[in-house]
Amino acid sequence: MIECNDLSLVYPDGTQGLKNVNVQINKGEFVVIVGLSGAGKSTLIRSMNRLVQPTSGGLYIDGENALAHNASQLRKLRTKVGMIFQHHNLVKRHTVMKNVIAGRLGHTSTWKSVLNIYPNKDRALAYENLKRVSIEEKVHTRADQLSGGQQQRVSIARVLTQQPKVILADEPVASLDPPTSHQVMNYLKTINREDGITTIVNLHFIDMAMEYADRIIGMRAGEVVFDGPVAEVTERTFEDIYGRKIKDDDLRGGKTDYEPTEAITS
Ligand SMILES: Nc1ncnc2c1ncn2[C@@H]1O[C@H](COP(=O)(O)OP(=O)(O)O)[C@@H](O)[C@H]1O
Ligand SMILES: [Mg+2]
Repeated sequence: MIECNDLSLVYPDGTQGLKNVNVQINKGEFVVIVGLSGAGKSTLIRSMNRLVQPTSGGLYIDGENALAHNASQLRKLRTKVGMIFQHHNLVKRHTVMKNVIAGRLGHTSTWKSVLNIYPNKDRALAYENLKRVSIEEKVHTRADQLSGGQQQRVSIARVLTQQPKVILADEPVASLDPPTSHQVMNYLKTINREDGITTIVNLHFIDMAMEYADRIIGMRAGEVVFDGPVAEVTERTFEDIYGRKIKDDDLRGGKTDYEPTEAITS
C-alpha cells in the first residue's frame, strides 16, 4: 500500500527530517512508529499524504508515484489517505455532524459543500460512523462542548466518513489521559481489524506501541533504526530508538482492561 524508497527530506533551513527511509507497508497492517520528539515521525507520515515534500527518493501510495502528483491528484491522494492529528482539528463552532460530514469533501463538489448540500446517504454514513465510536448522541452538539477524548472520537468518525484506504494518526493520544488514550487506541485497532484499513500511528510511548502494534517502526534522527514485529523488540531496540536505556518516562502507564463497547463490536 505504501512504499518509501531511500526517502529523504531536508527542510529549507537544512534540517534533515528524513534520511534514506526504506519502508514497505502492506494493505491492512497496523503499524506504530515510535521515537523521541524530533525523530522524524511526523515528517514521515506527513510525507505519506504529501503535507510535506520529500526532497529525494521514491514514494508510492497504492501503486501511484506520490511525488509526481499535480494538484488534482494530490486532492485524490488526500481523500484516499486520511489523517488524524493530536489536536483533532475539528471546527470548534460547528456541530459534530457538520465536522464529520466534512469527511465527504473530497467526494463532493465545492459549490455543494459550501452550501452544505450533502446527499442523505452521506449523512447516513456520517451517523453510522459516529455510532461506531459510540458518540452518536452528540450529533447536534458543538465540537467545543466535547471532552478531548470525545473530540478525538469525532475525528475518527470524520476520517472514516472519508472512506480512506489508509489512516495516518499523528500522536492521536498525546493530549489524552491514559484510560482515554486506551479507548481511542482500541477504536483505531478495532476499525483496522474490521475494515482492513491500513493504519499508521505515531506514538511517543513504547509501552503503548507494544500493546497495540502488529509491527513497530523505530525512528531516531530521521532514520529507521528498527522495523519488525512486536515479538522481535528487545532491550537493544529501546537503546537504538532512545539512545539510552529505557526509563519510566518512556512509558505511558495507566494500562486498562478497557473493553470495546457494543457499538463497535456489533
Ligand atoms: N517545518 C520545519 N522546518 C524545519 N525543521 C523542521 C520542520 N518540521 C520539523 N522539523 C525538524 O525535523 C526533525 C523531525 O521533526 P518531526 O518529524 O516533527 O519529529 P517527531 O514528529 O518525531 O517529533 C526535527 O529536527 C524537527 O525540528
Ligand atoms: Mg511529531
